[in-house]
Amino acid sequence: MTQPERNDIERAADVLRAGGLVAFPTETVYGLGADASSPAALRKLYTVKGRPADHPVIVHIGRVEQLDDIAAEVPAVARELAAAFWPGPLTLVVQRRAGVVADAATGGRDTVGVRVPDHPVARALLDAFGGPVAAPSANRFGRVSPTTAEHVRVDLGADVDVILDGGASDVGVESTIVDVTGATPVVLRVGGVPEERLREITHAVLARQTSGEVAAPGTLAVHYAPNARVELVTNAERDTRAEELRRTGHRVAILDAPADPHEYARVLYARLRAADAPETDVILAVAPADDAGIGAAVRDRLLRAARG
Ligand code: TXA
Ligand code: MG
Repeated sequence: MTQPERNDIERAADVLRAGGLVAFPTETVYGLGADASSPAALRKLYTVKGRPADHPVIVHIGRVEQLDDIAAEVPAVARELAAAFWPGPLTLVVQRRAGVVADAATGGRDTVGVRVPDHPVARALLDAFGGPVAAPSANRFGRVSPTTAEHVRVDLGADVDVILDGGASDVGVESTIVDVTGATPVVLRVGGVPEERLREITHAVLARQTSGEVAAPGTLAVHYAPNARVELVTNAERDTRAEELRRTGHRVAILDAPADPHEYARVLYARLRAADAPETDVILAVAPADDAGIGAAVRDRLLRAARG
């Protein structure tokens, strides 16, 4: 892997200015970036992604101060969370200021999800571009998120103008999304920042609403789905279940759980992709041993994969 050079970054920023699409690495997963202020660029983004128009995307900024350009109002708890976790795998949903981020990026909502990613290539790109960049994960709608440039190439290929290669994503699961527009911060999606760590910062009660009507749109059902059927098992159940499935004519791939939950998060999507071969009927995924910390996000994504 060769890191992009300064020239590659400048060229990618020019592509964004011209309304094009740039896939770039972040510490969570690869993003598919477009100028967040340009309705035309966003139209292209939604078309390539195959995403419904009412489904909002996360807006990425290079510096924490830019939050004030985008948000109509930044509550104290948002400032505390931003100070603690940015740059990093946390998205804050705030009230949107009119006229900066285009309506198309938020599906017409009066709120916007914002994050400062922690990856040198992402930060260099955001810095060179200057403005906010709308970026969903760089996979087709409903599929497993990409954690390498190669995953992006396989999924989106020639539909992307530039793919910046920054190596494999270090965190491996998407950002934690926290809605700070109400009296109580609400976790809309578990992710890279564990809830335990959020609680150390917000002494306010932290609600979790990661499914149902008010969860982050798009975190429901068909997301994160491989083609093969996914079944979640414990380590103890694994062999018996594999045997049972094979006996009844199923072709089985096993996804073992690395002991370290961070390692599990890091390799999760690449392993799911590898296991999802045409000759696989069922992926038996061993759930993380412990749901503490980032283990909760790993389990969440496996459950969604199993449902899809
Ligand atoms: O780690 C990440 O968050 C990655 C990287 C590229 O930054 N991005 C990502 O984006 O996962 P995407 O588009 O695949 O998922 C964005 C999620 C969706 O579930 C969407 O519903 C939610 O964020 N979201 C965005 N804006 C929102 C808003 N204003 N209110 C509620 N949910 C929002
Ligand atoms: Mg996604």
